[in-house]
Amino acid sequence: MSGNEIRRRFLAFFAKRGHAIVPSAPLVPENDPTVLFNTAGMQPLVPYLMGQPHPTGSQRIADSQKCVRTNDIEEVGDNTHLTFFEMLGNWSLGDYFKEEAIKWSFEFLTSKEEGLGLDPRRLYVTVFAGDENAPKDEVAYRIWEDIFTDQGMDPRKRIFFMDAEANWWSPGDNGPCGPDSEMFYDVTGTLTDGLTHEEFIAADDRQDVVEVWNDVFMEYEKQNGQVIGKLAAQNVDTGSGLERITAMVQGVDNVFETDLFQPIIAKITELAREKNSRSVRIIADHIRAATFLMSDGVNVANTDQGYILRRLLRRSIRQVDKLKMEHGSLSQVAAVVIEHYGAAYPNLVSKRTDILDAIDAEEAQFRKTLEKGLREFEKLATDTISGHDAFVLFSTYGFPLEMTKELAAEKGIAVDEAGFAEKMKEHQEASRTGAAGKFKGGLADHSDEVVKYHTATHLLLAALQHFIGKHVHQAGSNITAERLRFDFTHDAKVERETLDKIEDWVNDKITRGGKVTSTTVPKSEAEADPSIEGSFWEKYPDTVTVYTMHTDDGEVVSRELCGGPHVEHLSELPPTFTIKKEESSAAGVRRIKAVLA
Ligand code: ALA
Repeated sequence: MSGNEIRRRFLAFFAKRGHAIVPSAPLVPENDPTVLFNTAGMQPLVPYLMGQPHPTGSQRIADSQKCVRTNDIEEVGDNTHLTFFEMLGNWSLGDYFKEEAIKWSFEFLTSKEEGLGLDPRRLYVTVFAGDENAPKDEVAYRIWEDIFTDQGMDPRKRIFFMDAEANWWSPGDNGPCGPDSEMFYDVTGTLTDGLTHEEFIAADDRQDVVEVWNDVFMEYEKQNGQVIGKLAAQNVDTGSGLERITAMVQGVDNVFETDLFQPIIAKITELAREKNSRSVRIIADHIRAATFLMSDGVNVANTDQGYILRRLLRRSIRQVDKLKMEHGSLSQVAAVVIEHYGAAYPNLVSKRTDILDAIDAEEAQFRKTLEKGLREFEKLATDTISGHDAFVLFSTYGFPLEMTKELAAEKGIAVDEAGFAEKMKEHQEASRTGAAGKFKGGLADHSDEVVKYHTATHLLLAALQHFIGKHVHQAGSNITAERLRFDFTHDAKVERETLDKIEDWVNDKITRGGKVTSTTVPKSEAEADPSIEGSFWEKYPDTVTVYTMHTDDGEVVSRELCGGPHVEHLSELPPTFTIKKEESSAAGVRRIKAVLA
């Protein structure tokens, strides 16, 4: 069974059980400065897990979500680590709970007709043992007990209670969380008679059993790392890594041998004059990730998401050279990724030329300094490389830190990483949020402040259109609890006089504060309605939410496509909106930074 067929079957299985199938959200979360990328399927669904109605109107959702995780980038090349992966997930938003979630997981894994047809005798599960936050999960245990008993197996040799470290899932220090039940598959095919608890732990350590699916019973909420109580509704969040489950179904011991990777690996092997499987795997992973990032609008840069993309490409270029492949090979590999995944992710195809050109451009640019940089490295690499020197290699020659580390490791010398981080911090404000360390996932920030700035951003866009023209649309947005940053399409400086008028207009709307309402409409209808502002339409599902902002006498001041959340009433915003800065952001794009006080 192919990876594409597994994805298709998963979605069909849950559609048949009343789930609305939604497209993957883009890799870069909108309006969430706390995280660079979606790192789990639940991340784009946080507002709905917290109680907001989902735009589809359904309480059952399923999807295959694109995810990027780079904290283990140096492990890529082993059997399981990937920077980009797809997570299959089904969600109950205050609808079904443990019974259905567990039964459907088992049914999908084992059914030959509708699911993956895996052998039930190779399955093991864990459930939560209980602690001060939540009781022992006897309910989940009993559901699994019935399932294994029905199959003629001894439940005591299949189901194991585990502590919070193993069986409590939360994506960060704030937001929805809960106990989970994890399913493991025996990759050896020899553990079909069941295991004791100790034997199971040992098998897990040896990776003889591999986690293939996680059912999280999300009914709790965390704030600042502490569980503070129950959510208004009981939710289910499930996740299964597509590449890993495909490896299980296809009976191979690593993700690169699945058909999801095979055409990509084959192309690299064809282009390489010599074989080195770790390098081949690194290129396959990194170029697949880079291609997906670019299809979601990430451009090469020195901060934030753009810097991750740059690292992926530059690390790949190093491997290209190790394998003595021709310059320009990487875009040929990306072309295979696009061809292979284009049917499931059409924006790869529509952005094909841009993606391939950007890879070639980055390779050409890096190569201009690479040789000089390597000579400089040779000069510096006599002893531990200081933070200053590592920073020079980064800023002048474009060497990502881990490339310097890798080169240094080949010579058996160390790099002062803390010193490097210090230099980065000194050098640019941007590194605070970007390159220096924000590689780990966080959680959508829906604090009151961020929500207020989010609402103010809609007012700002409406004001820009009012004073500058209808050609102004959103090109990007980044909101923190302290300020908003908004990029918009316009190719000339906006004079202070106009900025003053924009401020006055926004402040007038806040003072005359009226309701903020939302409705859901079919995307095609919203797209055809000129009174509705929207950009990045392709990212939205077939049904979209439109937020309308009014003054107290009912005048509509803004109508915009958006995922929310927003304040309920404009009068909740602090009364003074001030534009601190207006500057160029990219060709044809201006940037405004503004604050509320
Ligand atoms: N959110 C859960 C996970 O990522 C399903 O494992």
